[in-house]
Amino acid sequence: MKQRVFSGIQPSNVIHIGNYIGAVRRWVASQNDPDKENIFCIVDLHALTVPQDPTELRERTLDLLALFLAVGLDPDKSILFVQSHVPVHAEGAWLLNCITPIGWLNKMTQFKDKSSKQETILAGLLDYPVLMAADILFYDTHEVPVGEDQKQHVELTRNIAERFNHHYGETFIVPEPMIAASGARIMGLDDPSAKMSKSSGAVKGHAVNLLDDPKVIERSIMRAKTDSGSDIRFSKDPVKAGVNNLLTIYQALTGKTQEAVETDFANARGYGDLKKAVAEVVISVTEPIRVQHRAIIADRGELERLMQLGAEKARSISEPRLQDVKQKMGLLLPQ
Ligand code: TYM
Repeated sequence: MKQRVFSGIQPSNVIHIGNYIGAVRRWVASQNDPDKENIFCIVDLHALTVPQDPTELRERTLDLLALFLAVGLDPDKSILFVQSHVPVHAEGAWLLNCITPIGWLNKMTQFKDKSSKQETILAGLLDYPVLMAADILFYDTHEVPVGEDQKQHVELTRNIAERFNHHYGETFIVPEPMIAASGARIMGLDDPSAKMSKSSGAVKGHAVNLLDDPKVIERSIMRAKTDSGSDIRFSKDPVKAGVNNLLTIYQALTGKTQEAVETDFANARGYGDLKKAVAEVVISVTEPIRVQHRAIIADRGELERLMQLGAEKARSISEPRLQDVKQKMGLLLPQ
């Protein structure tokens, strides 16, 4: 039996190389694995958990679909769709809310972190992981390829699935988080002690965004924070976090082993050489994506058609599971 893979990404701000290395690039690899059936979702309902400009959110949603295609996701091989186009997600989240203890949600580190930055904390922000559980569970998902920061949410999803199965009988598959051994947590270029994040995406020099101009990319990487030494090697020492992060990006994008990467820099004259090489590799990956994206976004009609097609396929998988869950929970189904 094929393993079903489900993952999602928010249409918030821009997509950076952390999202690409930790998640999206791995989706493209999964799509080409004949043993897998892949579903990738633009989670616009999740984006609403923090304030959004409505016009911008719509634009970013289309932009992200174009980016999916530009990186190589193929609507003939994977199901690509927008979360709000399939009502199962919101409805399923409500049903799961009614079996999820609030204490589980209060423990989520991302909620603690994000809510500390908001003046008014919206109920949706606390509930965000339950919506994510609905995304995953109603598709009978086996594997969830994500970056390190989403691991806790996938673990919560597992707990919700087990709790439901315990109360109502075997229903949901208990999914596995798939976290890459390397590149699952790319750090900010300006501050390698903090994760590269979309919310800091507007800060100059923090992230490299997939659609950045090569000159901007070069500038951000050349200014990346390192240390006062000159040793170019992988290291867990917090002082070397900047160099380690640059090497990790280089390794992820070249596909080389750690040893081979360190050999590449054995004769480097300093961090300048390292940064130049990283910038070159990043630009060689992002530039074709940027060019493709520009062409794809111009054909809005085609994007609309693909969104509709993706939503239909997604509905046909998730709706039967929704009916099953409603019936098990005691809702009277219309005949
Ligand atoms: P989001 O949109 O914040 O991020 C999308 C993906 O990128 C990964 N990621 C990173 N990986 C490496 N280094 C980083 N600095 C970095 N920053 C982000 C994330 O781990 C994620 O895999 N809640 C999710 C979206 C979601 C989802 C789902 C994912 C909604 N429903 C169901 C999987 C399954 C989120 O906000 O990801």
